Amino acid sequence: MNNWRQRYHIEPKSGWLNDPNGLCFFKGYYHVFYQYAYEPVGGNKYWAHLKSKDLINWEEAPLFLSPDKEFDKNGAYSGSALVKDDMMHIFYTGNVKHKGDFDYINTGRENNTVHAVSKDGECVYSKNVIMFNKDYPDGLTLHVRDPKVFEYECKYYMVLGARTKEDKGEVLVYESEDLDSWNHIRTFETMAKFGYMWECPDLFEINGQWILMACPQGLEGGKYEFQNIHSCGYFIIDGDFRKNGYIVEYKEADLGFDFYAPQTFTHEGRRLLLGWMGMPDAKYTNPTVEYGYQHCMSTFRELDFDNDTLIMKPAKEYESLRKHCFNFDEGNKSYSVGDDRAFDLETQNFGDKFDIEIFDTLKLDFDSGRGDFELSFIANGYGRDARYIRVKKIENLRLMIDASSVEIFVNDGKYVMSNRMYPSEYKDIKVNGNITGKLYKLDV
Ligand code: FRU
Repeated sequence: MNNWRQRYHIEPKSGWLNDPNGLCFFKGYYHVFYQYAYEPVGGNKYWAHLKSKDLINWEEAPLFLSPDKEFDKNGAYSGSALVKDDMMHIFYTGNVKHKGDFDYINTGRENNTVHAVSKDGECVYSKNVIMFNKDYPDGLTLHVRDPKVFEYECKYYMVLGARTKEDKGEVLVYESEDLDSWNHIRTFETMAKFGYMWECPDLFEINGQWILMACPQGLEGGKYEFQNIHSCGYFIIDGDFRKNGYIVEYKEADLGFDFYAPQTFTHEGRRLLLGWMGMPDAKYTNPTVEYGYQHCMSTFRELDFDNDTLIMKPAKEYESLRKHCFNFDEGNKSYSVGDDRAFDLETQNFGDKFDIEIFDTLKLDFDSGRGDFELSFIANGYGRDARYIRVKKIENLRLMIDASSVEIFVNDGKYVMSNRMYPSEYKDIKVNGNITGKLYKLDV
């Protein structure tokens, strides 16, 4: 096994992984599907499939969707699942690219919305196109994709990401009574252009607030916002999403290097989120490609909404993996990890300045005078340098560390940074400053 193999994050044995799809709980199992290609650098997209009873131990299931029809032959693209009457209903985008001299924006492609049905959650027994490009509203390019379907007050709703002919991103909202015939009831958009395409939308209510998550592509970046090539965040919606509810504000969901295309689902009263811990970024080369695979998922996060902010915390299931605990305090500032790679670190009681070093690779540095929290690569950035959160005070941090990633939850999950890292040596985790904390080894 190469050193960078993840211990408790979902990643492919070989090939490429991107967006999580079809997340649901069905017949006693959590199901995760994801965008999969056989080649580690990408290619024609399938839906890979994993299932679990506890969100921790995952069984691999056979590939679920293949691009084997005329209407999805260049990729079974992203989508979602809805469980109804003991059946799994899957909605996804059938991607088609025609051969020729096309721009693939206004000409030469199809993005078909497909409804697939599975009785057992293992095999698909029907796939039918429910909307072709000609069925979407006027004024759009051929970029319309990523259906997310949910039930609300006895009706079904679908959100679809879209790019207009004016090159603006937006989200279409559809309504249905039977899951097969869908009416476009409205569109979420912004007055001024906010990116050219909004991918992977998800619309849900959390703690009384409606949220439209989406990934706007092509936002101009600064030091503290839109630092990645494509953003991933949420629009806060005021009013009824079916009628005149409108977008009040956009906030980024994650401020690290690697987070995109998240999807949520509910089970037993919780709303859980899983994101792709990857980012299409030409300046960065992912060294696992040499080993025949690339990318992984984030940890599962439980969502809440408080004070105008989406709160994300690692699902409580990960606490069951906590084994040995090391205490960081005045006399203990460094921990040598030996052969272990998976950790959960909780720290509190900070002064105005502190830093944490993870192996020979990452430095996390807070300075209240500077007013920000900086994550930077000490070494092995593979083209990457630093990311920032503008924050005056840090009360606590939770770090979910795996062999080649760290997810940082700041101030009880108010801010999150998700990052891949590729240490050349796994020696110590060190803290400097007025910090106490508990470092748990995870039993994986
Ligand atoms: C987002 C995305 C989706 C698309 C899928 C294809 O990462 O571009 O919009 O459905 O990936 O793999």
